[in-house]
Amino acid sequence: MPLEGDTDPRTPYQLPFPKEALSEIVIPDAIPADDRLWVPQAENVWFRPLCLNRSQGYWMNLLKVRKSGVLSRHRHPAPVHGFVLKGLWRYLEHDWIATEGSYVYEPPGETHTLVVPKDVVEMITMFQVHGVMYYVDPWGKHMGYEDVFTKIDMCRAHYAACGLGADYVDQFIR
Ligand SMILES: [Fe+2]
Repeated sequence: MPLEGDTDPRTPYQLPFPKEALSEIVIPDAIPADDRLWVPQAENVWFRPLCLNRSQGYWMNLLKVRKSGVLSRHRHPAPVHGFVLKGLWRYLEHDWIATEGSYVYEPPGETHTLVVPKDVVEMITMFQVHGVMYYVDPWGKHMGYEDVFTKIDMCRAHYAACGLGADYVDQFIR
């Protein structure tokens, strides 16, 4: 038991965490071996939840897109951060390519369409998305939306249907 005044840098913090603090999330197999964890989103597009933060309105997830998959055109009113873990992709609205190992910051006001070239078998990117993804037609007309609550609903329905159980998603919600 360390004494007060102990200056050893390897002495862990000795006090309890705030009683109102939420529990941490630790996912050792973040890129899962079990394909059931990937929630279908569109043809050749899936996401794997990591943190569904309903209290602050954002979500962290892995997006997986197989060859020729498209993530439909959408607007972001709030920031997005991305880190490419595997493969590559680009937006129809930009001339840069997000390659494996790239970090991407997408500022509020972005409207884009994510595509994976035909010769890329699979891409996986971690995205932190705040607020909503507001789906639009090429002229900005509203087509639909996703937010952390629709994401939670999609996970719940998929995990119930695939046998993991509707409450499997609860571990990712804060
Ligand atoms: Fe986006």
